[in-house]
Amino acid sequence: TGRAKKPSEKASPDKTSSKAKEAHEPAFDLEADTLPQSIVDASFRSGDYPYGKRMKRKRYNRELEPLQIELQKLLSWAREEGERIVILFEGRDGAGKGGTIARFTQHLNPRQARVVALPKPSDTEKGQWYFQRYAAEMPTTGEIVFFDRSWYNRAGVERVMGFATEEQADAFLREVPAFEGMLVRDGIRMIKIFLTIGREMQMMRLHARWHDPLKRWKLSPIDFEALPRFDAYSDAFDDMLAKGSTPAAPWTVVRANDKLRARLNAIRHVLHTIPYKGKDKQAIGELDHKVVVTVKDYLD
Ligand code: ADP
Ligand code: AMP
Ligand code: MLT
Repeated sequence: TGRAKKPSEKASPDKTSSKAKEAHEPAFDLEADTLPQSIVDASFRSGDYPYGKRMKRKRYNRELEPLQIELQKLLSWAREEGERIVILFEGRDGAGKGGTIARFTQHLNPRQARVVALPKPSDTEKGQWYFQRYAAEMPTTGEIVFFDRSWYNRAGVERVMGFATEEQADAFLREVPAFEGMLVRDGIRMIKIFLTIGREMQMMRLHARWHDPLKRWKLSPIDFEALPRFDAYSDAFDDMLAKGSTPAAPWTVVRANDKLRARLNAIRHVLHTIPYKGKDKQAIGELDHKVVVTVKDYLD
C-alpha cells in the first residue's frame, strides 16, 4: 500500500531555478490563476490516499478537543516527572507540518512546549559539526520540543537540492541512528512523524500558497523546486525512512492529504505512545490505521 513508485530523477547541485522551471509538469503552472480541473480532481486520492472525502469540520472539532485536553495531562506529567520529549515532523513542502504542530501547541503553555524551525545554516553553523545546532535545541526537564523540519534536512532537502553532497547525505544516514541513540539512552523520548501527501495534493497546496495572501509567506524559492523534483524527493524520503528508523527511534508515517484526519491521528499517536499519568484511552480513541502506518507497511 506504499506510494506509487516512479523512476528516479536526480537533481544536480547547480540546477538553477529557471532550468528547474522548464521541468514543471506541462499541465501545471503555480502562478496561473486557476489549477487544471484534472489536478483538483486527482488531488485527494493522490499518493494512494485511502479516503475519497474530507472529514467533516464538525466532527474534527468534536474529536480535537478531548485530545488537546489529554495533551495538557501529558505536559503536566512531563513537568512533574522531569520528562524530556522530542516530537519531530518531516514531510514535503505543503505536507502540513506547521499546521499540525499548531494544533498540538494551541492550548499548551509556551514555556513548556517549544517549536523549533531553524532557518538555513549560517556560515558559522556550516563550519560546525552538522548535528550541533540541533543538539543545542534539545529539551530540558519538563519540556516538549516540536521540530518543524530537523536534522533530517540533510537526507531530504539538502540532498535533493544539492546543498549537501551525496557523501554527506550517506554519512548522515549512517550516523543518525547513533546520534538519536545517544539522546534516547540519555532519557529523551523521541517521536518522529513523516507527513506524506501525493503529487497532485502538493500542487494544490503550493498553488494555494501563491494565490492566498495569508499563505504566501509560506512559499519559498525551495517550494518551486519541489514539484519538478517530486520523484527525487520520494526516493530521498524512502531512504531516510528506511535508514532512519531504529527500535529506539522509529519513524511513523501519517498520510496527510486530509489535514484534519492527519492532525487528529498524529496527536493520537503521540498520546498512545507516551505513558503519561491519568491517560484516558476512551478520550483518545482508536488510531486510524489507514492514516497512521509503519515504515515497513509504507515502504512495502
Ligand atoms: P519551509 O518549507 O520550512 O518554510 P523552505 O521551503 O524555504 O522552508 O526551505 C526548506 C528547508 O531547506 C529549510 O529547512 C531550510 O533551512 C533549508 N534550506 C534552504 N536553503 C538551504 C541551504 N542553502 N542549505 C541548507 N539548507 C537550506
Ligand atoms: P494551516 O494552513 O491550517 O496548515 O496552518 C498554517 C499555520 O497557521 C500554522 O503554522 C499555524 O501557525 C497557524 N494556524 C492556523 N490555524 C490555526 C489555529 N486554529 N490554531 C493555531 N494556529 C493556527
Ligand atoms: C509544510 O508542510 O510545508 C508546512 O506546512 C510548512 C510549515 O512548516 O509550516
